[in-house]
Amino acid sequence: NTKAITPPDIRSRKGGTPLVCLTAYTTPVARLVDPHCDVVLVGDSVGMVLHGLPSTLGVTLEMMIMHGKAVRRGLEQALMVVDMPFGSYEESPEQAFRNAARVMAETGCAAVKLEGGAAMADTISFLAGRGVPVMAHVGLTPQAVNAFGGYRLQGRGGDADRIRRDALAVAEAGAFAVVLEKVPEALARGITAEVAIPTIGIGASAACDGQILVVDDMLGLFGDFRPKFVKRYAELGQAAEAAIAAYAQEVRERMFPAAEHVFADPLKGAHATKS
Ligand code: KIV
Ligand code: NA
Repeated sequence: NTKAITPPDIRSRKGGTPLVCLTAYTTPVARLVDPHCDVVLVGDSVGMVLHGLPSTLGVTLEMMIMHGKAVRRGLEQALMVVDMPFGSYEESPEQAFRNAARVMAETGCAAVKLEGGAAMADTISFLAGRGVPVMAHVGLTPQAVNAFGGYRLQGRGGDADRIRRDALAVAEAGAFAVVLEKVPEALARGITAEVAIPTIGIGASAACDGQILVVDDMLGLFGDFRPKFVKRYAELGQAAEAAIAAYAQEVRERMFPAAEHVFADPLKGAHATKS
């Protein structure tokens, strides 16, 4: 598709109209978000959101590829980015390239995302120099939940400097954009002013160059997960629950199916038209 947004397009949007980004994991949701988004991320959040995993650590390359293929079929214009799952890229630049190339070849995505700052700089430049555009992800990186000891706000006090250095390192290494997750507004503003690539915030204030949310979270579909940084633009989970309850009641009361859902007796129908 020649109209599709590319990684250089996203890179060039630094400081401009905020970039609109959402996750998607399936074809129908990809179709819904595509006309409105600059970037659609097949996030490894799919493991928690659609597969019931307790964290993103159990997500496999095969899961990312399967959901990536589904999302690809639903996109026409947004840039598709696929998350590299835990264990598929950290070992070496070579391992990262081998697996990223597989993700790109099998899903048709134009870029991958991986978590980590200065520690991943060599890997990012290895990929970027070999035809794999990389979106980086610093601040709260959920694959490091055990190292962090939870999903707490990052970048408080002296920790702010670590995240600032991480953001500068991934930009220097050649990432075309960087996700900034769960950091205070002043830090997000400072990093956004300092780095040459777009910052895409999640729980990182409107000071960033763009925003991303997990689509199921903003639609109110993903259970009781209500972190401060998620705005619920709909309550589809409640709407679905009410619909399912209504169906159950109508089946039990033989109110569904009603006459309009029932195929008429063909003999009766033929008789009626003749008379
Ligand atoms: O996996 C994911 O959905 C993400 C975004 C929330 C940034 O990494
Ligand atoms: Na992710």
